[in-house]
Amino acid sequence: MTFHSVVRGCGAYLPSRIVTNHDLAAKMDTSHEWIVERVGIHQRHMAQEGEYTSDLATQAARQALDRAGISPESIDLIVLATTTPDDTFPAAAVTVQQKLGAHNAFAFDVQAVCSGFVYALSVADNFIRSGQVKSALVIGAETMTRLLDFNDRGTAVLFGDGAGALVLQAEEGALQKNDSQRGVLSTHLYSDGRYRDALYVDGGPSRGGAVGYVRMQGREVMKHAVEKIGASVKKALEFHGLTPQDIDWFVPHQANIRIINAVAKHFSLPMERVIITVDQHANTSAASIPLALAVAQADGRILPGQLVVIEAMGGGFTWGSAVIRW
Ligand code: UT7
Repeated sequence: MTFHSVVRGCGAYLPSRIVTNHDLAAKMDTSHEWIVERVGIHQRHMAQEGEYTSDLATQAARQALDRAGISPESIDLIVLATTTPDDTFPAAAVTVQQKLGAHNAFAFDVQAVCSGFVYALSVADNFIRSGQVKSALVIGAETMTRLLDFNDRGTAVLFGDGAGALVLQAEEGALQKNDSQRGVLSTHLYSDGRYRDALYVDGGPSRGGAVGYVRMQGREVMKHAVEKIGASVKKALEFHGLTPQDIDWFVPHQANIRIINAVAKHFSLPMERVIITVDQHANTSAASIPLALAVAQADGRILPGQLVVIEAMGGGFTWGSAVIRW
């Protein structure tokens, strides 16, 4: 028997504390104008002391489950994309499992930095396609502000904290490449470790114990982001025999408005069909796409049956895209 996965619910959570560019400018050599012009960020949410990635993830997951009308006990799989787990181990996903009471699931984390959500979606979708699980929670959750060096203005202004989650359920039958039925139509994943030094964290359990801080060659990353995201979206559209005009909603990873604008322009996509949250959320790494999906579904933009394309690129480099009939 063949299966495909359908999105049944979408949820999000943002910590209540908001930090504006002006708040940052009061503490470091930067300005609201520079951040808005170069990145498009106005504010970011920051987790409170004692508030961890698993807390954010659990809130987003609860909302997604409520909206799907599914109980935690009926979830078979939890895949949590994060770069900022509560602890080195266990996986934050098992803490979320425990907090939700999703005792019939197996749970693990996926680490692909800003591409993490696309990777996690691909993993869960493939478990469903194989028939091994019937329902899955796919979560992107981060407390990226815990990895920031507030003496480095080139990175400290870019990131925020948050979480988003999707509930996927198995439906019988395989989807055709350009199916009008709802479901995850495809995922395409890529990585290239030769670019490790362009964007990394200078610490970790094996490298000396300290957690470390984000280090980035911003220009280099931006150049590759536009090129690699463009190539992966093109490949996905070609795979389905689709054109950019067929996309109802383009939901990119939210790192920099200039990257998003450049990719949209490359595909002649009007900005009215692009979901933007970078201004309000900043870069929440693996959480940015599910947060954007949740915002655009809650405000009535993304509707069932519409064609949604997501994409991301981040440290590694890792990158990828997914095509979803919502
Ligand atoms: O999600 C993972 C993927 N990450 C990304 O996609 C991030 C990609 N990169 C970027 O978004 C951009 O490269 C940045 C936003 C990080 C930087 O923008 P940029 O246009 O590439 O600026 P730059 O690094 O070339 O810096 C330009 C100037 C420099 O000053 P000088 O040397 O021209 O005097 C920087 O020192 O801007 C200065 N600068 C700042 N000024 C005020 C760098 N950061 C700041 C800051 N405030 N926060």
